[in-house]
Amino acid sequence: MKNAVVVVGTQWGDEGKGKITNYFSNKADVVVRYQGGDNAGHTIKFLGNTYALHVIPSGVFNPNIKNVLGNGVVLNPKTFLSEIEALQKQGFSCNNLYISDRAHVIFDYHKELDGLIEEHLATRKIGTTKKGIGPCYTDKIARCGIRVADFVSSDFEEIYKTTLKVKNDQIISYGGNPFDIEESYQEYQKIAEAIKPYVTDTIALLNEEIKKGKKILFEGAQGALLDIDFGTYPFVTSSNPSGGGVSIGSGVGPTNIKEIIGIAKVYSTRVGSGAFPTEFEDEVASYIRETAHEYGTTTKRPRRIGWLDGVVLKYSSQINGLTGLSLMLLDILSGIKNLKVCTSYMLDGKEISTIPARISDFEKCIPVYTTLPGWQEDISSCKSYDELPQNAKNYVSFIEKLVGVPVVMISVGPDVLQTIVRKTIL
Ligand code: IMP
Repeated sequence: MKNAVVVVGTQWGDEGKGKITNYFSNKADVVVRYQGGDNAGHTIKFLGNTYALHVIPSGVFNPNIKNVLGNGVVLNPKTFLSEIEALQKQGFSCNNLYISDRAHVIFDYHKELDGLIEEHLATRKIGTTKKGIGPCYTDKIARCGIRVADFVSSDFEEIYKTTLKVKNDQIISYGGNPFDIEESYQEYQKIAEAIKPYVTDTIALLNEEIKKGKKILFEGAQGALLDIDFGTYPFVTSSNPSGGGVSIGSGVGPTNIKEIIGIAKVYSTRVGSGAFPTEFEDEVASYIRETAHEYGTTTKRPRRIGWLDGVVLKYSSQINGLTGLSLMLLDILSGIKNLKVCTSYMLDGKEISTIPARISDFEKCIPVYTTLPGWQEDISSCKSYDELPQNAKNYVSFIEKLVGVPVVMISVGPDVLQTIVRKTIL
C-alpha cells in the first residue's frame, strides 16, 4: 500500500505550505524536505506559539517523527545549527533529524557569490534571497560542489582548501573580497563535527521506512512557478519544487507516491522580480497585504499581490500531477466586494491558457477575468464546507471546476484547527 503524500506549492511560494505540512505531519511517521535550502521560510503556528523554520522539516516538534533533509536539499550548516539551538531552547530535543550524506553544502562563499552575481546582473537581477542557493546548485551540476559526506570526512581539509582557492578567484573577478582559507577551514571544520551526528544514508532510511508501511510526508519548498524547469525562468529558484523533484531529491521512486496535494492561496503573491500578470496595486491589494501580513518570512520584503490566476493553477496541476488542492487564506477575502479570477490570457491578440516559455511573452500577457461576488461574513470559525456563506462556496467550486482538481482542504485561519477537511489524505 502506498503511504507517501507530497505537499507542493502551486504558485510562487508562500502559499501556506507550513500550515498544511504541520497538519499532516502530526499523522506522518517521516517528514522529508527534498529540495531548496534556507531560502524557504515555513511559518508554523500551534499551541499559541509561532515558529519560523527555514531548513528543518516541520515534523521536528514531534519526537516520534523522523525528519529528513534529502539529497536534493542544499544545506547551510550554520543555519541548521542555529535553528537547532533555538528549538532546543524551546524544549525540542531535535534528536529526530537526519541529513542525507549526498546533500550539497552551502558555504559562505556561495552566499558571497549570490550577492555579487546579483549586483553584476544589474537590471536583470533575479531578486534572490541571497542565501547562496543558486551558486550551490551551480556547483552541484558543475560537479565541483562539496557534499555532506565529504564535509564530515577526513578529506574535508584538502577538498575545502582546493575549492575555496578557486572560489576566491571567482569572488575577486566579481570585485569581492576573498576569504582567508585557513581561517574559513578552521571554522567549518568545527561545524562539520557538530553536523556529523545527524548525517546518514537517507535513501536507505526512507526506503526502509516505506517497506515497513510507514507514512511519509514530502514537504515542498517554494512553488511550481519558481521551479528551475517549469517556472518563470530566469526568475526562478535553482531546484525542482514540483512533484517530479520528490524522487530526484529523496531517492524514493515515483511509484511510492499516493497523493500530491497542491497548496494554493485564493489570491496570488510573489516576492522578487519577474512577470506577474494578475498583479494589482490598490487599496484592496494593500488590505490583503496587511490583513494576511504578506511580508517574506526569510527576507521580510513586502510581497506583490495579484488576483487568483487560474492559468497558473491549471499549469501547476499538470506539471505536479495534483490529486487534490488545498485552498489557503479564504478568510482574508471576507469583506471584499468583487473577486476576480483569471481564466486565460490575451497574448498579441490571441487568447491562450498556457504559460509561455519566454519571460518577455509572459510579461505581455493580459489576464482575462471572471468576476465573482464576494461575501461579508467572517468565516474564520467555520468548521465545515456547509457552514461557509454561499458566495464563498461558489468561489471554491469555481476554482475546482476551472482547475479540474478536487478541493480537499480549505484554510480559514492561521491555526491548524481552522481547517475545513473535505477528504482525509493521510
Ligand atoms: P533563490 O531561491 O534565493 O535563488 O531566489 C530565487 C527566486 O525565488 C527569488 O525570486 C526569490 O524571491 C524566490 N524564492 C526563493 N525562495 C522562496 C520562498 O520560499 N518563497 C517565495 N519565494 C522564494
